[in-house]
Amino acid sequence: MKKPTLVNHPPPVEVPADNRPVVAPIYQTVKFEFDSVEEALRSQRGERPGFAYLRTSNPTLRQLELTLARMQGREECVVCASGVGAIAQALLSLTRAGDHVLAFIESYGPTRQLLQRTLAKFSVSHTLLSIEDLAGVERTLKERPTRLVLFESPTNPVNKIADIPALTRLARAHGALTVLDNTFAGLHQHAQFDIDLYLHSLTKFASGHGDVMGGAAIGGADLVRHLRSDFTILGGTLDPHAAYLLQRGLKTYFVRYRAQCESAQRIAEHLASHPAIERVHYPGLVTDPGHARASAQMSEFGAVVSFSLRGGAEAARRLTDALQFFSMAASIGATDSLVMPPQLLASRDLNEEQRRISAVGPGTVRLSIGLEACEDLIGDLDQSLAAISAAAG
Ligand SMILES: Cc1ncc(COP(=O)(O)O)c(C=O)c1O
Repeated sequence: MKKPTLVNHPPPVEVPADNRPVVAPIYQTVKFEFDSVEEALRSQRGERPGFAYLRTSNPTLRQLELTLARMQGREECVVCASGVGAIAQALLSLTRAGDHVLAFIESYGPTRQLLQRTLAKFSVSHTLLSIEDLAGVERTLKERPTRLVLFESPTNPVNKIADIPALTRLARAHGALTVLDNTFAGLHQHAQFDIDLYLHSLTKFASGHGDVMGGAAIGGADLVRHLRSDFTILGGTLDPHAAYLLQRGLKTYFVRYRAQCESAQRIAEHLASHPAIERVHYPGLVTDPGHARASAQMSEFGAVVSFSLRGGAEAARRLTDALQFFSMAASIGATDSLVMPPQLLASRDLNEEQRRISAVGPGTVRLSIGLEACEDLIGDLDQSLAAISAAAG
């Protein structure tokens, strides 16, 4: 064997079966080989275990899928390269020309854009309602055969809490699939409901460190088998190294999530009495309109706290600029705290009435609470609120 051949066929290193690595290795390989044509064909026909090509599966991705399915309390999971990838690929997989989708004004912007731009091109229509308009949901489902109801809870950014039992009951009664983008609530919540498919951005709480993207669709075995065959040809494959980092992130998921929620609760309570703040949007506050429902539906209230400043857009700009420990950046759920001012939260695709329903006003600020000492975060918010009061004279 000449050296150019050697470097392409390096000596195998066997790990004895009774000498396992404690952390699973990253299978950073696209291909898996077979010893004979017959075995390769048996693999293609699904007649033997194993892996063939990364776009279909890989042990590192598979371990992540199995973990996520169990966290969400369902049989199966398929992962992909981003949260939006999971939403797009699931919608493309589950709908066909002529279908109708019921979705909500308060949903994540790119989800609405997928419906408005991408699915519309393939003659899939949609209706956008307020997540609070249950009468509208019932009327729409009665009037129009609907393939699926796609919703979020808590909603972004003002933490409205969907009535999940009512929504799922109505959808089921009218033969529509229920699809919940559960990103804000986290990977362990809402398992008790009659949801067909959970979608997640793993970029948020699963990664937890703001350094890796991923997405997941989780549900029953038959539904996920159907999705997997389409995800494979749509091609938004998760890289094994990203899957490894996500699996690593999950080890501290519960510790992080609970600590972030505890700080979010303290911060929401602290902000609620500040004179510059008109209203805090956090379902953990007993005064929040979603509190009773969130208490019945959720084990924790989430790590996102939003509030509306009396001073409007200018006050929000000053406050955001004055914050030291909150990075002005998109996304949520990471160890570092983030802030989004209303100027960056605006939804350009919504009309005036829809913007009123979305409840993002000129003074609405969204915080994603991280793992810094809560006292430092409260001190930082206090000094930036003092800065806007001083500017207002
Ligand atoms: C509710 C929700 N769904 C989906 C996504 C998209 O996830 P990703 O950024 O991983 O594509 C986000 C991102 O902010 C989100 O907030």
